[in-house]
Amino acid sequence: MYVCSCFGITEQQVRQHAETGACTPRQIAGACKAGTDCGSCVRKIQALLGRGACPRREALDPVVLTTATTTASAAASLSGPTTAEAA
Ligand code: FES
Repeated sequence: MYVCSCFGITEQQVRQHAETGACTPRQIAGACKAGTDCGSCVRKIQALLGRGACPRREALDPVVLTTATTTASAAASLSGPTTAEAA
């Protein structure tokens, strides 16, 4: 079934690109141009990626969480002394 009628990209092709590392609609667009003309297929591509078409997504999520935690800790340490420390 076609996901992107502008470029004739099928659901199977999106899944294949996801298996080779394209885990976002932008990466899918970079691989096959899907979503770069009228854009009406981007939500379908997002839905496909969200339904497990990207096997690396689970592997990437802990990295995102670790980065977010590290960033929050770094921001907290850069915010300066607390009122208790300043007194
Ligand atoms: S249907 Fe995909 S860009 Fe138009």
